[in-house]
Amino acid sequence: MCGIVGYIGHRDAYPIVLNGLKRLEYRGYDSAGIALYDGNELKFSKTKGKVADLEKKLESQISTNGTIGIGHTRWATHGVPNDVNSHPHFSNSGDLVIIHNGIIENYEPLRQELINRGYTFQSDTDTEVLVNLIEDVKKKEKVKLGKAVQIALNQTIGAYAIAVFDKNKPNEIVVARLGSPLAIGVGENEFFIASDASPFLEFTKDAIYLEDGEMAVVRTHKKIKIRKIHDDSLVDPYVQELQMNLEQIEKGGYDHFMLKEIYEQPEAIKDTFRGRMLVDQGLIKMAGIDDHIDKFINARRILIVACGTSWHAGLVAEYIFEELARVPVEVEYASEFRYRNPVIDKDDVLIAISQSGETADTMAAIKLAKEKGAFVFGVCNVVGSSISRETHAGAYTHAGPEIGVASTKAFTTQITVLTLIALQLAKKKGKISTSDFHNYLRELEAIPQKVEKALESNDIIEQIADVYKNAKNCLYLGRGFNFPVALEGALKLKEISYIHAEGYPAAEMKHGPIALIDEEMPVVVIATLKGHYEKVVSNIQEIKSRSGKIIGIVTEGDVDVKNLADHVIEVPDTIEFLTPLLTTIPLQLLSYHIAVLLDKNVDQPRNLAKSVTVE
Ligand code: G6P
Repeated sequence: MCGIVGYIGHRDAYPIVLNGLKRLEYRGYDSAGIALYDGNELKFSKTKGKVADLEKKLESQISTNGTIGIGHTRWATHGVPNDVNSHPHFSNSGDLVIIHNGIIENYEPLRQELINRGYTFQSDTDTEVLVNLIEDVKKKEKVKLGKAVQIALNQTIGAYAIAVFDKNKPNEIVVARLGSPLAIGVGENEFFIASDASPFLEFTKDAIYLEDGEMAVVRTHKKIKIRKIHDDSLVDPYVQELQMNLEQIEKGGYDHFMLKEIYEQPEAIKDTFRGRMLVDQGLIKMAGIDDHIDKFINARRILIVACGTSWHAGLVAEYIFEELARVPVEVEYASEFRYRNPVIDKDDVLIAISQSGETADTMAAIKLAKEKGAFVFGVCNVVGSSISRETHAGAYTHAGPEIGVASTKAFTTQITVLTLIALQLAKKKGKISTSDFHNYLRELEAIPQKVEKALESNDIIEQIADVYKNAKNCLYLGRGFNFPVALEGALKLKEISYIHAEGYPAAEMKHGPIALIDEEMPVVVIATLKGHYEKVVSNIQEIKSRSGKIIGIVTEGDVDVKNLADHVIEVPDTIEFLTPLLTTIPLQLLSYHIAVLLDKNVDQPRNLAKSVTVE
């Protein structure tokens, strides 16, 4: 979390850094700051609040000329969000200025050591410790900034993507990464630095993604030299051509990114199976799977690790893999998995799911599984992300950039990729007949159109949202393939409207949550015809007899639930294991509309961040 941006070249740095921060705000938005060297002096401003607040402050506060600058949008880890703790941070002499995404875990002993040596600190941050450590090394060892950064980083434990420059030498920015992403955009005698490529898309399509443990001194009129931080060895820079375009990261007429991304799902799902699912030939072609199919066929079990919404996609996948490919699957929170000495061996296949491809806990789980000899497969959305590079093989979801902090299209495309994998594995293992395989492909191909149909309920959902917008609690129930969808629906509501919500397996309700039900309690029940329908209808009756309010997610043409429920939202019929791709849609829209009606910040909910690069 936290977004970092930098520019060095011949243009005005201010608008580039400021616009870059706006694009990276999804990474954190509790404070923001900027520092520029205007040819004479270092100008800076930082503030608690959003980038827009910073912009307002800057209008009145400083002239913003200068061709070198850095900026930061923060998601607080050390120290509360306030002006002082905001980045950039300065060294005691005022010469060095730094921005940092990550956590320096051993900052406390380093800080003590620096205090003993006469340094003072304004903020509570680990970052201010780091910039003073760099200054201390630079002075003590009489080395250039790049070397000082390298020596200092070798004394730290933790994670970082940093950009630092010296106001006395304003022709270079030193950058380094370990555990947090850092991209360098390469232009004509100019360079852009950012947590991802979105801040510099309109300037260059050439990008270098630093690998973990690498640093670079970025100088105008010079080629970039990349070094390993720990042993100083040189690394050949790999310049990648970006596929993303500006349109993809703009709102395109929608009020919010979240709504745009909800509506992009038909196309996103198509993009996910395009070229992979050859329906006429009855084939799935996925290099990432096909090249390693033996690993999957011989797997003793499949372990899935992920966090948040991606974890919910993993739960859906568990049901699908076990149903189709008859392989045991365990789904784990990455954060738990990594710290509980899990039993893993070389016959295990671990699938890591991550939209951003940067989540620190998921990354740590991957490293652990690799150490123990498992084959690790990644399902990521962000091309070239850390997780996509760390895994042995993988498949991208191809959903396009997801900016709204509450994940939507990433979820449905993750399920789509995982369904393709399960189908391919089931076929190769001989667990499903050729005719079933063909039928499943045909049905999956029809899903985007059915998602479009599900989106047509938007107006009805908006009306339902209006009825329940003031609810204090909400329960989401589902069974089988739709139990994880209930969890995801509840998460969406919590994330953006701050209404307490819980997802439960419908039958489990009677073991606790039923005690909460009264006339004030809306209960969203996923009750599609395929999927233990009669049982779910009985659960609905149990709620009704306790005066709970039912919002049923039902199959088109449903009769029984309609008779019982207070409201129904229809989705098209499909085969059971594909229902999550449809039932998810109304739940996304419901939480969206409730949040809008409550006037919440839909795309940037409080306390959350899109990419969680801290443990
Ligand atoms: C954060 C985001 C969630 C996301 C989770 C996992 O909490 O706000 O939307 O599901 O991280 O992120 P990942 O990028 O690994 O899927």
